Amino acid sequence: MTTTQASLAPPVCMDGEVLANRQIAPVTWIMHVHAPEAAPRMRAGQFVNLLTDPGIVPLLRRPMSIHKVIEHGGTATGFCVLYDVIGPGTRNLRAMVKGDKISFIGPLGNTLSVPETARRAILIAGGVGVGPIKFVAEELQRRGMRDITICYGSRDFDHSAPVKEVAPDGCRVLVCTDDGSVGRKGFVTDIVAELIAGGRLTPGDYVFTCGPVPMFKAVRDLLGQHGIEAEAATEEYMGCGFGVCFGCPLRQRQPDGSVVYKLCCVDGCLFPLHTLVFEGDEDGDLDVGGTEA
Ligand SMILES: Cc1cc2nc3c(=O)[nH]c(=O)nc-3n(C[C@H](O)[C@H](O)[C@H](O)COP(=O)(O)OP(=O)(O)OC[C@H]3O[C@@H](n4cnc5c(N)ncnc54)[C@H](O)[C@@H]3O)c2cc1C
Ligand code: FES
Repeated sequence: MTTTQASLAPPVCMDGEVLANRQIAPVTWIMHVHAPEAAPRMRAGQFVNLLTDPGIVPLLRRPMSIHKVIEHGGTATGFCVLYDVIGPGTRNLRAMVKGDKISFIGPLGNTLSVPETARRAILIAGGVGVGPIKFVAEELQRRGMRDITICYGSRDFDHSAPVKEVAPDGCRVLVCTDDGSVGRKGFVTDIVAELIAGGRLTPGDYVFTCGPVPMFKAVRDLLGQHGIEAEAATEEYMGCGFGVCFGCPLRQRQPDGSVVYKLCCVDGCLFPLHTLVFEGDEDGDLDVGGTEA
């Protein structure tokens, strides 16, 4: 059955138990969390907001995409997050060990909108934007899609997670790094451009993308030239994660051309890529119309 946005389960705040926390690349880790009450409600593209320390530093929870749902005998019992260690919150995550309790709010955000007619999928990840990719690919496979290509670009060896960690079996994975230390040398958009040139990405395919804003802009411009749409998993700074603090605004162009503020956490975090207005875009630096959120 396809999950609609309206049928998504409301988030809960609860403690999970760390089952494992393992390093998969010099700066990248995967944490496995036992959370049998929340896990069955989790859908691809959603995220959790993790309390990385029960004290006050850092005060705010840290949002992380759901990387995978853990299953035992067909029952969802927990979830994984894939994270880069970059600051105090993720350093706290790295320090957690099996048996630790971790408070989380989730599942948060919306889920995939895959056109019924799509027969092929291209998933484009930049850096730690690879976090949600495995769950998305597994969900597409569950829906019967067999032709799935993952284009994964990162900075260098230190930031490149192994293919077996980021993709389920049965997907084609094309890897690059800026410096060529893993996979081919270049940007992920070079790979996407080649897929388009070779007829392996055409309008009507389902495209999902997650990564930094410069990558979003490059992917949007490239796909736009060929009339291809994409769904983008955005990652704005967050506070609450559920629409209360207004801490995660982003700008979205409406069908009538106006630009309004949306909240990444409750209106997204998935949005049609071509509707997003980024800094540096026309209208992107302006104080635009009021929020509809
Ligand atoms: C919906 C969502 C899903 C996310 N999924 C993942 C994921 O799967 N894996 C993962 O590693 N990270 C993910 N992130 C980003 C993650 O939340 C941040 O990396 C984390 O909060 C950093 O916390 P910190 O205390 O370690 O570092 P901080 O001290 O908070 O930040 C360190 C540096 O990273 C920058 N930074 C922090 N958060 C962001 C952000 N959201 N966008 C751009 N720059 C940022 C800061 O400006 C600073 O320079 C996600 C964010 C969102 C909103
Ligand atoms: S994080 Fe609080 S409203 Fe989005």
